Amino acid sequence: MTAVAMKADSGPRMVDGEFAFTAEDFRKIAAMLHGDAGIALPESKATLVYSRLAKRLRALGLASFRDYCALVADAANIDERQRMLAALTTNVTRFFREPHHFDHLRDKVLPPLLDAARRGGKVRLWSAACSSGQEPYSMAMTVLGLMPEAANYDIRILATDIDPNVVAEGHAGVYSENLLAGIPPEFRRRFTSAAPGSPGSYRMAEELRALVSFRELNLIGDWPMKGRFDAIFCRNVVIYFGEDTQSQVWRRFTPLMSQGSFLYIGHSERVSGPAASVLHPEGITTYRLGAERPK
Ligand SMILES: C[S@@+](CC[C@H](N)C(=O)[O-])C[C@H]1O[C@@H](n2cnc3c(N)ncnc32)[C@H](O)[C@@H]1O
Repeated sequence: MTAVAMKADSGPRMVDGEFAFTAEDFRKIAAMLHGDAGIALPESKATLVYSRLAKRLRALGLASFRDYCALVADAANIDERQRMLAALTTNVTRFFREPHHFDHLRDKVLPPLLDAARRGGKVRLWSAACSSGQEPYSMAMTVLGLMPEAANYDIRILATDIDPNVVAEGHAGVYSENLLAGIPPEFRRRFTSAAPGSPGSYRMAEELRALVSFRELNLIGDWPMKGRFDAIFCRNVVIYFGEDTQSQVWRRFTPLMSQGSFLYIGHSERVSGPAASVLHPEGITTYRLGAERPK
């Protein structure tokens, strides 16, 4: 594929390939993705959009992106719209990704929380944009590493993502061996075992799975949660949002955070907007909620 070629019958093409793909098609797809998920698609991603969606056009027997746009714009085709969203979002994740966050969680955040849980308190952690579950399971391993008897206390990890496919993968908790690389050997021995009927795959231990609840949730949609969290991991997702959407997400977290609780964000992200006045940096891409909350 080469950039911008011309075809008299279909207008200027953004990407030259098997299917006609014009700037108008790109704008429509970008607008749908922005409206559905808050994701901002710059024109520099045109080739990526083309290559990720071309297989959908092929599977559906469509001749052009114009036809595909018409199809996904129709409310009757919600399943295909969901497939488009899944094809255009990035689900890259790893166990213990950005390990300093898990060290901070283990050394600074969890010890007082787990003591409070032993005295009857509750502990709530949230992996917002959890992808296929490696992040919340890493959080669960960190909890169980400190408190093997965590199941006896009121300790829960909520794991949410907009993409139902990755939510289902997380819920299943089965990963191929090459994906376990980031798990410290001791945790790997303790918390994973060969998945029955799935050679080369490993299943997360029941005690991990029991701590984590997987749910579909759109960060730019309604959030049903009422209680407060003691730590939120929202990493490597707002980087795909526009500036305004980013600051709205940060602002919406603050009423859901307990006093003194922590927010962990991705390595190339930063807290912006009104939330920045109450979320104080404490270490690398780690923020602590201070006294005041933004209006
Ligand atoms: C790159 S992954 C990050 C996974 C994990 N947090 C990590 O850092 O390893 C980004 C995830 O954000 C999800 N996502 C994108 N837009 C979203 C939205 N509006 N609401 C919730 N999740 C979203 C994608 O489905 C994807 O699973």
